[in-house]
Amino acid sequence: MLEERRAGDVGVWFVGARGSVATTAVAGCAAVAAGLRPPTGMVTETPPFAASGLPALTSLVFGGHDTAACPLPKRAEELTAAGVLPHGLADAVRGELTAADAEIRPGGPSAGDTRTDDALIASFTSDITGFTRRHHLSRTVVINVASTESAPGPDDPRPAPSSLYAAAALRAGCPYVNFTPSTGLRTTALTEAFAARGLPHAGRDGKTGQTLLRSVLAPMFVQRALSVRAWSGTNLLGGGDGAALADPAAAAAKNAGKERVLTDTLGHTPQGEVHIDDVPALGDWKTAWDHIAFDGFLGSRMVLQTIWQGCDSALAAPLVLDLARLVARAHEAGLSGPLPGLGFYFKDPDGGPAALADQYAALLAFAARLRDAR
Ligand SMILES: NC(=O)c1ccc[n+]([C@@H]2O[C@H](COP(=O)([O-])OP(=O)(O)OC[C@H]3O[C@@H](n4cnc5c(N)ncnc54)[C@H](O)[C@@H]3O)[C@@H](O)[C@H]2O)c1
Repeated sequence: MLEERRAGDVGVWFVGARGSVATTAVAGCAAVAAGLRPPTGMVTETPPFAASGLPALTSLVFGGHDTAACPLPKRAEELTAAGVLPHGLADAVRGELTAADAEIRPGGPSAGDTRTDDALIASFTSDITGFTRRHHLSRTVVINVASTESAPGPDDPRPAPSSLYAAAALRAGCPYVNFTPSTGLRTTALTEAFAARGLPHAGRDGKTGQTLLRSVLAPMFVQRALSVRAWSGTNLLGGGDGAALADPAAAAAKNAGKERVLTDTLGHTPQGEVHIDDVPALGDWKTAWDHIAFDGFLGSRMVLQTIWQGCDSALAAPLVLDLARLVARAHEAGLSGPLPGLGFYFKDPDGGPAALADQYAALLAFAARLRDAR
């Protein structure tokens, strides 16, 4: 039986609400809140965040937009069959999945959609404000976890769909998180408008695997005065993300973020490229292989190779829940504009340091700032 909603509950509005990451986040939040599973992977459940005034997991209410129609309990069954969710969990949290499913509205623009940009923004805004009012929520955080788009070119007649959703978040007065490499609010007009409206935002592109490792290893080479000559990477993955990233234009947006951490940390861009191959048989399991060629003392040539094998949605979902809580609390504390203290979570962050250890220190300082805020 679902609990009655209380004043002060916080809305989490997913753009891409029927995707693997969103479904895993809704199911995982319910499972952890009910004590069925430990909060492994949730940084906000560790001691440094205990006094930061973050909303409780039991206070999060989920809804969102999606262009697909598959009901959330069915998506959770699919994720169970694929080994992403443990057996029995989807049944145990069916009530929460059904409740979130009832709050998912059709996204856009779909094929043949003749609505103008403004009409789409107005419709998305009304869906978000209706959700916030219906559940008497203190605030709603809009989080983009939709399929990665190709970056719009300068001659594109329309803004990217992710920017229409960001504009709707702005109009609805909601803080915003972009967990994808899509444009979202990274346009001058939207970024300025968020700051002017006093809304906090964070992005972009969650750092869950290969780039996480890069942000740890690149500082090691710098600190040990080893010269990185080339850094090449290949990713094999399936699932919806694998299919979306098979489009070279969508993959280009992702790869730019993966390279940025190297350029920012090493001070130069080493030779080498990143490739993403769609292998549907792998489903949500990603293999990321990195090959790093570096020089040691007297020019001695050496190589480090790493292989990361991770379940993409299981890595991403706890971070999405962390971000929902942190950004909701930042909004409550009156913070606005970009939140560089959250660079720990992103491949292409809004300022702040590039090395993971420094980003973690910045996150702890951010947690302390939230603790000391009213
Ligand atoms: N480790 C990770 O999983 C990870 C890390 C970083 C970033 N991301 C990003 O998170 C996003 C989601 O990943 P996923 O594995 O859940 O993908 P997915 O394909 O399972 O889900 C994406 C969802 O977005 C929906 N969608 C597409 N266009 C839409 C639109 N215009 N409006 C509303 N909904 C729309 C799709 O119908 C789908 O349900 C991707 O952009 C991915 O690059 C994931």
